[in-house]
Amino acid sequence: MILSKISLINFKNYDQAELEVSPFVNCFLGKNGMGKTNLLDGIYYLSTCKSFFNSVDTQNIKNEEDFFVIQGEFDSNDSRESIYCGVKRGKKKIFKKGKKEYEKLSDHIGLINTVLISPMDTNLIFEGSETRRKFIDLIISQYDKAYLQDLIHYNKVLAHRNAYLKSLQQGAKFDALSLQIWDDQLVVLGNKIYSQRREFIQEFQNEFNGIYKTLSGGNEHSHLTYKSQLEENEFAELLAESLHKEKYIGYTTKGIHKDDFVFEIQDKPLKKFGSQGQQKTFLIALKLAQFKHIESKTNSKPILLLDDIYDKLDEERIAHLMNQICEGTYGQVFITDTNTERLPAYFNQKEYECFSFEVEQGALKMN
Ligand SMILES: Nc1ncnc2c1ncn2[C@@H]1O[C@H](COP(=O)(O)OP(=O)(O)OP(=O)(O)O)[C@@H](O)[C@H]1O
Ligand SMILES: [Mg+2]
Repeated sequence: MILSKISLINFKNYDQAELEVSPFVNCFLGKNGMGKTNLLDGIYYLSTCKSFFNSVDTQNIKNEEDFFVIQGEFDSNDSRESIYCGVKRGKKKIFKKGKKEYEKLSDHIGLINTVLISPMDTNLIFEGSETRRKFIDLIISQYDKAYLQDLIHYNKVLAHRNAYLKSLQQGAKFDALSLQIWDDQLVVLGNKIYSQRREFIQEFQNEFNGIYKTLSGGNEHSHLTYKSQLEENEFAELLAESLHKEKYIGYTTKGIHKDDFVFEIQDKPLKKFGSQGQQKTFLIALKLAQFKHIESKTNSKPILLLDDIYDKLDEERIAHLMNQICEGTYGQVFITDTNTERLPAYFNQKEYECFSFEVEQGALKMN
C-alpha cells in the first residue's frame, strides 16, 4: 500500500494539516520540536491503530482539545482504501476502512504495513523482554492474522487464569477442574505461538545476519536468539510443576508470555558489551530485516518511516541506505531531518522523486 494523502486534526501539535505525498521519497524538514516525528507517528497510527511513542491514545490529542482525527488515502495495484482513526476523550477509539467501522482493531493489522526506524529503538535493547516480544509479535502479525488472533486469545485466557490464581491467593477454595479449563486452552495456544515464533526466528535470523554483515563490513558476528521456557519442558508440565508456587503468588509464571529474544555481539550481551555504534547497527539491521521479512511474506513493500537517521548512522551507512532508496529497494519512504537542505539536494542530484515539506510549529509548507 502507498499513502497518497494524509490529514490530521488536533493530533499532537497539529491543529489541522493535510498533505498529498509522493509514492517515492517524502522529507519532513525543520527545527527541533516542530512536529516532524509527529507526522511519522500519524502514519504509524493508520498502520497499527496506535502511536509508536505514546500508548495512551488521549495523550495524543492536542492539548486543551477534545478529540483527534487522522485520515489517510492508500493505493495499491488494485484498490484504494480510505482509513479513518478518531479518538475522543471518554469514548471508544474509532477505526474505519471506507465507511465501515472495524469491530476489532486487530482486523486492521496487516492491511497497511510500516517499518519505523527511530531513536527510540534503543528501547529494544535496554527495556525488558516485553518490548522485544511486542516488536516480534507485530512483525508476525503484519503478515499472519491467525498468529495475532492466537496471541489475543492467549492473553485473554492468561488473564482468566491469573484472576483464578489471585482468588486462590486470597483464600478461595481450590478446584482442579476450574483451573484445567484455563490450562487446556493456554497449552494449545501457547504451543502454537511457540512454534510460530521458532519458525519466524529461523527465517528472520538469516535476513538479519545478511544485513548486519553488509552494514558492519562483515568484521563482527551478531546473534539473535529466541529463548522460551517451553524449550525446557512440555508447557503442560511446566504449569503443573509451578502450580504450588503460583497458588501463593497469584499469577502464572510459565508460558510464552515470558519469552525473550536475546541480542548478542561477539557472543556477549549487546546491552552491556556493544559499543554505541554496534548497538545502532544492530537496531538498524533488525528494522531492515523486518522490512525484508514482511516484503517476502506479503509480496509488497511496507512503508518505510525514517526518523532522525543522521543521528543514528555514520555517513557511510547513510550513503548506503540512500543508495538503496534510490535503487527502489524500499518503495515509499518518509524521512525527517533538522537540516532543511541536505536531503532534497541529495535526491535532486540523483534525479529521484522527492517531495519536501517544511514543518514549523505544527504547520506545513511544501517546497
Ligand atoms: N498532545 C499534544 N498536544 C500538543 N503538543 C504536543 C502533544 N504531544 C506532543 N506535542 C508536541 O509536539 C512537539 C514534538 O513534535 P515532534 O516530536 O514531532 O518534533 P520533531 O520536529 O520531530 O523534533 P525533533 O527534531 O526534536 O525530533 C513537542 O513540542 C511536543 O510538546
Ligand atoms: Mg523528531
